[in-house]
Amino acid sequence: MRERFLYIKTFGCQMNERDSEIIEHLLYPVGFLPVAEMGRADLVVINTCSIRAKAEQKVYSLLGQLRQNKSRNPALLICVAGCVAQQEGKIIQQRMPHVDIVVGTQQIYQLPEMIRKLDRGTVEPMLAVNLDSSFAIPAFQDYHYQEKKPSCSPSPAPDFKKFVTIMQGCNNFCSYCVVPYTRGREISRPVADILDEIRVLLARGVSEITLLGQNVNSYGQTNSVVDHGSVHFADLLRQVAALPGLKRLRFTTSNPKDLSDALMRCFAEIENLCPQFHLPVQSGSDRVLKRMNRNYTVAGYLLKVRTLRSYQPDLALSTDIIVGFPGETDEDFAATMELLQTVQYHSSFSFKYSDRPGTRSAGFDHKVDEKVKSERLARFQALQDSVSLERNRAYVGRIMEVTVEGKGKNNMLYGRTTTNHIVHFPASGMDRIRPGDALQVRINLAGQHSLTGKITGEQYHD
Ligand code: 5AD
Ligand code: SF4
Repeated sequence: MRERFLYIKTFGCQMNERDSEIIEHLLYPVGFLPVAEMGRADLVVINTCSIRAKAEQKVYSLLGQLRQNKSRNPALLICVAGCVAQQEGKIIQQRMPHVDIVVGTQQIYQLPEMIRKLDRGTVEPMLAVNLDSSFAIPAFQDYHYQEKKPSCSPSPAPDFKKFVTIMQGCNNFCSYCVVPYTRGREISRPVADILDEIRVLLARGVSEITLLGQNVNSYGQTNSVVDHGSVHFADLLRQVAALPGLKRLRFTTSNPKDLSDALMRCFAEIENLCPQFHLPVQSGSDRVLKRMNRNYTVAGYLLKVRTLRSYQPDLALSTDIIVGFPGETDEDFAATMELLQTVQYHSSFSFKYSDRPGTRSAGFDHKVDEKVKSERLARFQALQDSVSLERNRAYVGRIMEVTVEGKGKNNMLYGRTTTNHIVHFPASGMDRIRPGDALQVRINLAGQHSLTGKITGEQYHD
């Protein structure tokens, strides 16, 4: 088989990053090796995100660029995957004849067969965008973790940490969110599949796992093709944490409404569960939360934050915020700023609200002016920056365990703490250090987005 090159451009969330990894593994047996430069590719896959209008615009501008690449090189294959493909697939195919394949979020497993058909010269439209609420997520371990395959990419993601999908879809229908429409209903994978996949990874030297789902807190509790009995997310977490060789365990994302005491207690009781928690709040105003259909109040959220911190005082909390939701007043926004002051998040992702196709809030009145949204976003981010800096300064002088991820600028290495902070440290004379090594680093400088330190010793070196 002639060797061909694959370039995947991934937009959006960690679910998409994981899907891109799966696509890479699926296409290897069809003869595609990943490359880091789009210009060398025989096949470009755009794994798209439609969570916000801006993410979707980026996809269309890349597709515009690819139209020119294809006119220079007609043999170039172009595939659109992910959430935009799911929602807009038919339109993309009608309006963009330079796109060869469109696959929706549940259909990436069809890619090898679609490529083979193209290779055989088929003229059928290559479109697969079905979304099925009884879709069983395949057991990945058999073919996705074969011996490490060759890669032409100069900077592949570190091999010691991996994402594992435990569920997909979402049943919450927050009024602004497109996910239930692009990823379908919540479906949990069987515990045995998840544990098997992680065992395979651990046997290959992976030491850090992040469990992925849109709403992991309701794992095993809602619509599922598999009978889960009474398995809750906290039970799954304990079973995963107990697997020999797992040094760091993380998970994302959680909806506060489903955050149980059993799960919060895990932060006190599971040693390898990292003291880091992403708990999206979206707004500090009860009125807005209600219109967002979030099903919790600010007081209820704050109670959970206090409980979490009583179980794990070192917990680094992060959140997501939307500013300028339809009808958001100055008072509502002031309540969001107050919430940030109260919780003192270590970091946050904040976004200007944008209408998404098919969502309830797209039809709401009293849309907030773009200028007002921009101004609120800038104020929120400025406050978060000062809170982050203050929080990060509290680490100065402390010795933290840092898992090495790679080389940065100025002969520095960088890695992450269990709290998920990025730490830069000098690498001179450190030739033996490899990604995944855990080092003790004394923090001597704090920035808004990262820490700097110096190695004091090595805790373990596999
Ligand atoms: N507009 C702006 N931000 C949004 N998010 C989700 N939908 C929208 C939207 N329509 C944000 C939320 C979510 C994060 C992944 O993206 O904060 O938690
Ligand atoms: Fe979207 Fe809400 Fe589901 Fe998160 S919980 S994916 S914001 S609908």
